[in-house]
Amino acid sequence: MTPHPPAQRSVPGAARALAHCHELARISSLDDAIERVHLSTEHKIANALAAAWMQEVGLDTWVDEAGNLCGRLEGHKPGLPALVLGSHLDTVTDAGAYDGMLGVMLAIEVVDRIRRSGRRLPFALEVVGFTDEEGTRFGNALMGSRAFAGLWDPAWTELEDRKGVTLRDAAKNFGLDPDAIGDAARRSEDLVGYLETHIEQGPSLLDADRALAVVSSIAGARRLALTVTGRAGHAGGTPYARRRDALVGASEIIVEIERIAKRTDTVATVGRVRAFPGGVNVVPGVARFSLDLRAESDERRDAAFEEIEAFARDVCERRGLAWQADEFYRADAVVCDPALRFAVEQGIRATGDDEPMVLWSRAGHDGMAVQAVTGFAMLFLRCGNDGVSHHPDEIVAESDVEAALDAFEATVLAVADARG
Ligand code: GLV
Ligand code: MN
Ligand code: MN
Repeated sequence: MTPHPPAQRSVPGAARALAHCHELARISSLDDAIERVHLSTEHKIANALAAAWMQEVGLDTWVDEAGNLCGRLEGHKPGLPALVLGSHLDTVTDAGAYDGMLGVMLAIEVVDRIRRSGRRLPFALEVVGFTDEEGTRFGNALMGSRAFAGLWDPAWTELEDRKGVTLRDAAKNFGLDPDAIGDAARRSEDLVGYLETHIEQGPSLLDADRALAVVSSIAGARRLALTVTGRAGHAGGTPYARRRDALVGASEIIVEIERIAKRTDTVATVGRVRAFPGGVNVVPGVARFSLDLRAESDERRDAAFEEIEAFARDVCERRGLAWQADEFYRADAVVCDPALRFAVEQGIRATGDDEPMVLWSRAGHDGMAVQAVTGFAMLFLRCGNDGVSHHPDEIVAESDVEAALDAFEATVLAVADARG
């Protein structure tokens, strides 16, 4: 697929980071869209390509036990704890070219600038291209960063993708030992912190006419598989009074989910709906749908879900249906590390923006997992096109990428100054 112009040899910096994103965008399992999922052939190819770019700037590279691509540049002496810079290299289905990838490519450019400057830092720099931030293949997101942070659950090796392939088999096929994934865990004492630059994935910076923002916290998210069960029947012969139509019940619930989310300042999305048995002339007996629910605080998110469940149970009782909710993913809200956040603010100030804008992230990020092993902070940059993301029309301006690179480099130097 060629959704972006062919990569040209670019000078180091923002232009090269963008050219690299466009080159990665061509590594896709789909002919006409971007899709690169955990432990796929495309994951392997993307890791190899990004590893070559990392090596060009002086990083020693390896793929860890979980499939994360890692690179390291020593500090003023070998073996110092590392400040980790990065983001993810996997994508959703029909993705844009920048969600995740731009953060990894900018991390590589920061390392290049610092190495060329000859400055020796009081810590090592590591760049990580995490895998499975999105959870597109196995449903359970952040598996790369959770393994990195020591949160790997061996039961996850039995997760299956839509084709019935287990993570165990996918890992073996990728060249990993499925029983050793937990060994990707890093020790707190070997880490200084984790910094990530990411597109905002919303319109706040665009609306405020600003290029950069510092992130205060990341929303807590829950993802559930919801099932409404009624009774299938003949589309012509089943009178309304006797129908137990699961899809009509689910539809009432879905519309109310949006109302509840708007009223409670939460964000709720039903992104997948299926009716069974799925015949045009059959009353649906079962409706399955997904729910992604987020809020700045876990309390607000959980209170909204209680309201959703209460409404769903009422609908089901009135319509003679059964209700079931199975949670398959939960990541609680996390707050950025104050010292690293201060460094990001200094980084933004270094670009001439004296009052950095502060945003909480409505999107999930690897920092949610990484914070279990080390503090994290994030820099957001503006995305154009109404802030659209998880969509092929995702765009960024090169001047904003330049500003983000300047701020990211200055952030790393601010962390170095703070550590003496
Ligand atoms: C990841 O991009 C998410 O927030 O779903
Ligand atoms: Mn994403
Ligand atoms: Mn992302």
